[in-house]
Amino acid sequence: MIKLKGINKYYTSGDEKLHALKNVDLEVKKGEFLAIMGPSGSGKSTMIKILGLLDKDFEGSYLLDEKEVKSLNDDLLSNLRNKKIGFVFQDFNLIDRLTIKENIELPMLYMGKGIKETKDKVIELLGK
Ligand SMILES: Nc1ncnc2c1ncn2[C@@H]1O[C@H](COP(=O)(O)OP(=O)(O)OP(=O)(O)O)[C@@H](O)[C@H]1O
Ligand SMILES: [Mg+2]
Repeated sequence: MIKLKGINKYYTSGDEKLHALKNVDLEVKKGEFLAIMGPSGSGKSTMIKILGLLDKDFEGSYLLDEKEVKSLNDDLLSNLRNKKIGFVFQDFNLIDRLTIKENIELPMLYMGKGIKETKDKVIELLGK
């Protein structure tokens, strides 16, 4: 479960301080689907980076399965991203120097899956 309480996000460049997210509260329960919509510049990408554990530089509380995200170190966050978060990017973000097969294998190997299991799964996924 995702629980955000009083999230504020500021971007500073030079003397300028931009208040990108203002007191966002949000609760997403297991199995719920939601879409975040809003005009350009309203903070959707800012929000998704926080939800996706890519940005810890915010004010407020973000609980992911009852864990306070801000208290977790980078290794724990990487692990959570690997197990619980999936991104579908508009521009794919594949790793250029790897083949398509290797791109699919990589997160599974990070997950600690064996080579055999990974290779079989990749073939299955590519088949789809
Ligand atoms: N790295 C950054 N440094 C400074 N300001 C930023 C940065 N990223 C975003 N902003 C500003 O924060 C605000 C929210 O931007 P954000 O990219 O989250 O909006 P968005 O809803 O995703 O927009 P779009 O629909 O165009 O993708 C905008 O005013 C933007 O200019
Ligand atoms: Mg965006």
